[in-house]
Amino acid sequence: MIQIDLSGKRALVTGANSGIGESVAETLAEAGADVAVNYVTHPEAAGAVVDRIKARGRNSILVCADVSNADQVAEMFAEIDTHLGGIDILVNNAGIDGQAGRAWELDTGHWSRVIDINLTGAFLVSHEALRRMVAQKSGVIVNMTSVHEMIPWSGYAAYTASKAGLSMMTKTLAQEAAPFGVRVLAVAPGAIKTPINKSVWSDPAGLADLNQKIPMGRMGERAEIAGMVAALASGIASYATGSTVFIDGGMTDFADFSHGG
Ligand code: BGC
Repeated sequence: MIQIDLSGKRALVTGANSGIGESVAETLAEAGADVAVNYVTHPEAAGAVVDRIKARGRNSILVCADVSNADQVAEMFAEIDTHLGGIDILVNNAGIDGQAGRAWELDTGHWSRVIDINLTGAFLVSHEALRRMVAQKSGVIVNMTSVHEMIPWSGYAAYTASKAGLSMMTKTLAQEAAPFGVRVLAVAPGAIKTPINKSVWSDPAGLADLNQKIPMGRMGERAEIAGMVAALASGIASYATGSTVFIDGGMTDFADFSHGG
């Protein structure tokens, strides 16, 4: 029987206090991994994730760090080294979509904030993880991009640029790390029902507009992303590196062309 088996693996999931990250952290634990739960806000929610992982009999620690701050990231890895004994799986999930608005309407400060967290943050955490993974000649990094690594999105120039950047960072780090037995991949979710897009799915008109952009006609569930992340992190995907797996109900499959043309 083929099975996702992560037993004995030590994972770090950033932004694991809510949304897709929370689901990924719990799914990796379900597959047998010990998990460091990173957060920067809502410590009580992050603590509840740790408790649920421990209830499964896995080891789990709470690590507070702003991923865009190199010193805090280094301290987070020192904690992981001490309490989990190292790292085998990194999921760079922490991200924000930022303030919505057309480029000329927003203050330029919003740009740096989105890029700092979504792109620089993923780099800083990967930098620490890769030092350890390359030395031990094994490891997997999964970066959470978005369909917006390829679909432009008015009002979100910083977000789309950060995700496209993260996609290219994935490919380049994969090339660098492959000779050392380390794989680097990206998962690109479409519209997954989480707090980040609540304003859209809690409004019937917004939800109807979103659904008609998706050939499958519905939003995705967090578990539909988390299962794929666990599979990619496991030996099942031992020959996969440098690519993005889109999990989007067909959002990138040109829904408009299901009629006319
Ligand atoms: C965004 C969501 C959005 C989805 C599809 C994601 O990257 O975070 O807010 O619903 O893309 O547009």
